[in-house]
Amino acid sequence: MSPENTRVAIIGAGPAGLLLSWALRDAGIDSIVVENRSQDYVLARIRAGVLEQSAVETLTRLGLGERIRTEGLEHDGIYLQFRGERHHVDFQELIGRSVTVYGQQEVVKDLIAAHNAAGSTIYYEAADVAVHDLESSAPRVTFTHAGEAHEITADFVVGADGFHGVCRASIPREAITLYDRSYPYAWLGILANVAPSTDELIYALHEDGFAMHSMRSPHVSRLYLQVDTADSLDQWPDERIWENLHARLGVPGWTLQEGEITDKSITPMRSFVASRLAYGSLFLAGDAGHIVPPTGAKGLNSAIADVTMLAAALAAHYADDDALLSGYGEAALRRQWRVQQFSQWMTDLLHRNRTDLQTMEFDYQSQLGRLDYVTGSVHAQRELAEQYSGLPF
Ligand code: APR
Ligand code: PHB
Repeated sequence: MSPENTRVAIIGAGPAGLLLSWALRDAGIDSIVVENRSQDYVLARIRAGVLEQSAVETLTRLGLGERIRTEGLEHDGIYLQFRGERHHVDFQELIGRSVTVYGQQEVVKDLIAAHNAAGSTIYYEAADVAVHDLESSAPRVTFTHAGEAHEITADFVVGADGFHGVCRASIPREAITLYDRSYPYAWLGILANVAPSTDELIYALHEDGFAMHSMRSPHVSRLYLQVDTADSLDQWPDERIWENLHARLGVPGWTLQEGEITDKSITPMRSFVASRLAYGSLFLAGDAGHIVPPTGAKGLNSAIADVTMLAAALAAHYADDDALLSGYGEAALRRQWRVQQFSQWMTDLLHRNRTDLQTMEFDYQSQLGRLDYVTGSVHAQRELAEQYSGLPF
């Protein structure tokens, strides 16, 4: 076996890894992607669906904007709902920015189509992926593919292998601190074959818990319910889901349309940040370095922000300027902490935290007070609009 050589070896073909490889190609920099799942599996994974304006701009600049333009749904704001009343927060009017509803799955589909057409090297179904010699300037990646042992030597390795990947775990324990916060509730998400009953996303705080109405297309709705972390899908037959969605999302004079449920899943919520996104010749991007609860829709957008910064830093490195690359870890982390506090704020604002009864009742009234403040203050709404539509990167 003779080792393959590339400039950047990327572990993981999620949105972070695929986009980084594509952005590097655009800058004339070779890379190889190594993924442990199959292409079909990667294409089928259903995740979030809101793109910040800067994310749309990045994808468009890299030639990936075609379907976002024709099939993405541009949204000017969101609805915040509480006490059974719906309030519009109009980002466009407040700060002149918007977001685009376009499934992560579609972003991945566009990336894979582009890579396949360009003939990129992506090893799917790679087993026993391991990274080596990260402290040196000649790191290596080893794995087995189609029964054969492979070795890649590179200038850099990028861990875009998600929360459970091998790259972050390859940094010595004493060199990294993990900041973690879990939430005492989860999201049950459904996809339903029915036209959305709303023009903008609805985020609702209800006595029974959080609910949300999102969408994927003019014919497909995406809806979420706060459930207990111990709940399983068999406790949530379709009728119970719709009943809860009607109760939590209902306002007088408005009807939630039901449709065939085609996908159902329960996702735990967590906030997580690694203290470093750079170690020797390894860089982390996306979920490998940080996780947010889904309430502010920042997971995919953070991955896109990391990768945009990292691609620019690698391009500068190969043009003999190392400042950006040596500052990547710090710059991406500082941006991420700003995103973290927003995701935590949106999550705490909108979920029922079932602690002891007294605290729970106090917290609920206090949340209503905060929502009254936000919907009643143009300053608070601008703050929300600026963060939801995306910080610069
Ligand atoms: N070797 C190779 N690939 C791996 C390994 C491994 N040991 N472990 C994990 N992977 C792959 C996963 O199969 C997955 O395809 O790495 C990829 C990581 O992709 P994602 O989990 O989608 O993470 P990322 O690309 O950072 O995208 C972040 O995904 O989880 C959502 O909310 C998050 O929207 C955000 C986005
Ligand atoms: C989604 O459409 O899946 C979605 C939208 C907004 C969120 C989270 C998820 O905050």
